[in-house]
Amino acid sequence: MYIKRNPSSDLEDLKKEFEETSNNFKYPIKTREPQEVYEEALKFAKLNNVYSAALKEISTKLDIIDSDFQHMYKHNPIHHIESRVKEFYSLVKKLKHKNLEISAETAKDNITDIAGIRVICNRIEDVYAIEKLLLKQEDINLLKRKDYIKNPKENGYRSLHIIITVPVFLTDSVEVSPVEIQIRTIGMDMWASLEHDLRYKNKNDTEKFKNELKQCAIDIENVEQKMQHIHSETFD
Ligand code: GTP
Ligand code: MG
Repeated sequence: MYIKRNPSSDLEDLKKEFEETSNNFKYPIKTREPQEVYEEALKFAKLNNVYSAALKEISTKLDIIDSDFQHMYKHNPIHHIESRVKEFYSLVKKLKHKNLEISAETAKDNITDIAGIRVICNRIEDVYAIEKLLLKQEDINLLKRKDYIKNPKENGYRSLHIIITVPVFLTDSVEVSPVEIQIRTIGMDMWASLEHDLRYKNKNDTEKFKNELKQCAIDIENVEQKMQHIHSETFD
């Protein structure tokens, strides 16, 4: 199952959003000519296009790996995939947070999670299998890797994060685009969704349930290991 979350890409909407949003930030565009604003919005729309193409490439690769795996080992490593191009507003917020100019060029050079894909796997073993099979492909380059499964975050968060690049072939150029890939099990995803929702709602609840959440992460890990054991004993 593939879930794609597409932000709106209507150019007039984007231009309006661009004018309204960026005027509130550190490098306002009030001084820019309307033509310039229009051109910048166009550049953001183009960026959106490139990253959405990069996501298509990666999800196709994952789809192929999943079905070949099924063919070879009679087992599907991927439960489902979610992907999104970062919403314009969060992109501007991140640029602002990093004290950077609000332009498509700056975003392209400094933000590596404009294209994001989340791969939900059935078992922990599958997480590493997917990573290995993806990284050995010759058009894929690894930029950064964080293994929050081997080293969970203090709050209990577990997931494998890799940032890779993939070439996107356009009409007159090749755009080597970064994609942030989060690979995790169903259990890790269940935990991360709850923790994210709590944090989004308010900080107090995250704090109130801090210990309980951490215990949940540990319990999930134990259950996963027991289930992995049953699976290995039966099928390997
Ligand atoms: P940011 O994208 O700015 O957060 O960069 P970073 O360098 O801190 O990246 P990191 O790899 O730690 O986290 C990137 C993404 O992983 C976040 O945007 C979340 O989607 C997810 N993530 C990281 N930590 C947590 C966490 O504690 N809880 C949840 N629910 N998600 C997390
Ligand atoms: Mg992020």
